[in-house]
Amino acid sequence: MKFIIINGPNLNLLGKREPEIYGHQSFEEYLKTLRNEFPGHQIDYYQTNHEGSIIDTLQEADSKYDAVILNPAAYTHTSIAIADCIKAIDIPVVEVHISDINKREDFRKHSFVKDVAVYSISGQGLNGYATAVKWLLRNIHNP
Ligand code: DQA
Repeated sequence: MKFIIINGPNLNLLGKREPEIYGHQSFEEYLKTLRNEFPGHQIDYYQTNHEGSIIDTLQEADSKYDAVILNPAAYTHTSIAIADCIKAIDIPVVEVHISDINKREDFRKHSFVKDVAVYSISGQGLNGYATAVKWLLRNIHNP
């Protein structure tokens, strides 16, 4: 299957950014492990610090991929536009958060994406992305 991981703002700083919360590994490093775990599946990766670029990429992914694994980062808690876009496209979107957003500040507890994602994963560290791939392989089927 063909998947795209879309990571939102500041996730390009993984490894450097608040390592006590997000760990010491860069996403590029983790991606090698993830791709090795799922040989035979295409896992593309895109990171942006811009809300509109997340939306453009989601819209473009609709005709190109079987599913999206999305960590909207801080836009999770603010972006009706990203939620509307997920509703507008046909392919499933799994929401992933590295930290447990329910056990942090109150403003992180609400996700606009949760209601429109097919599945949400939070608090598993980077391994949450592998959980997302496994969930999609079990639950979606190629047309
Ligand atoms: C995050 C959680 C968000 O609250 C935060 O703004 C992030 C990362 C996570 O992966 O745990 O940037 O989405």
